[in-house]
Amino acid sequence: MRQAGRYMKEYRAIREKNAFLKICKTKELVAEITVVARRKLGVDAAILFADILLIVEALGLPLDFPKADGPLIAKPVRTAADVDALLEADPEETLGYVFDAVRLTRAELEKDVPLIGFAGAPFTIAAYLIEGGSSKDFEKTKRFLYEDPGRWEKLLAKISRVTARYLTGQVHAGVQAVQLFDSWAGCLEPSEYREHVMPHTAAVFAAIPAGVPTIHFGTGTAPFLESFAAAGSTVVGVDHRIRLDEAWQRIGYDRPIQGNMDPLVLCSSLENVKNHAAMILDQARGRAGHIFNLGHGILPDTPVENAAALVETVHETSRGIQEFLG
Ligand code: CP3
Repeated sequence: MRQAGRYMKEYRAIREKNAFLKICKTKELVAEITVVARRKLGVDAAILFADILLIVEALGLPLDFPKADGPLIAKPVRTAADVDALLEADPEETLGYVFDAVRLTRAELEKDVPLIGFAGAPFTIAAYLIEGGSSKDFEKTKRFLYEDPGRWEKLLAKISRVTARYLTGQVHAGVQAVQLFDSWAGCLEPSEYREHVMPHTAAVFAAIPAGVPTIHFGTGTAPFLESFAAAGSTVVGVDHRIRLDEAWQRIGYDRPIQGNMDPLVLCSSLENVKNHAAMILDQARGRAGHIFNLGHGILPDTPVENAAALVETVHETSRGIQEFLG
């Protein structure tokens, strides 16, 4: 995962002149950032430059990214009435600029490079809506669930419906695969995940047009990986808190897997980067269906040359393995 962002000077130059949301809403800038980041790193697929929180405005709430504080939702969801007041507008009207950006990016990207669209998973979006921004312990989110499970189900179902239409719109605009980010699911107790979160994520995956591969990203999901996989994506993502081989055995070798290098490794020596890559590829054992990726987003002070060197190492090593396997 690149978050094409702050570690890349090309992005920083654009960002100096434009607010983050402005960039997301300007298709020429989205296309440029997406295409340049892909080329510079040499990765096999491009991920659209956007943010999982864009849907917050589509739900009728104000969204801002004040400097250095992370995202801010000034009118968070705290009551049943707040849930009822959320809009369920046609994404074509509220998020049409993302579809425009997909069309332009698809046109400017190399033909043989897949473009990945994405959205936040219902739980992570709900957590942002309730907390009003980032959080360490997700206390308000959990209280919101415990105090009134009916209200919780209503909120997640609403987010799921809008998300399914949003991702379907991205598919129609031209993305080749879609990814759902459940970045904060790892704060949940396993039965909470299974009963109150997984069914909503499953509803989103079930609504994606047939034949479009789906990727389920999460962090800290090792304690309930089987439930996480049961949400039904094509590819199951895992972070660096679990060994790749153990994760793959648990989800079954018939499922493609995505992961799982600790992004912090990229901030260390090139030798350490190569050792970690080799360790993960060794665990994959040359099986088909491994998408090499970081366990979480790339960190802002990552040296770009380390990221590019990682891509090269993974390509070289996996070519070698394929040749060896014939
Ligand atoms: O990967 C890519 O290159 C595509 C672009 C992308 C962004 N956000 C751009 C971005 C993607 C895939 C995301 C997903 C996203 N956004 C997630 C899920 C992945 C994850 O990291 O768990 C989450 C949780 C968000 C929400 C979000 N957006 C946060 C918490 C922040 C602030 C982060 C920080 O440390 O400042 C953002 C802003 C954001 N999204 C930036 C970028 C490049 C930085 C904005 C800036 O330039 O100031």
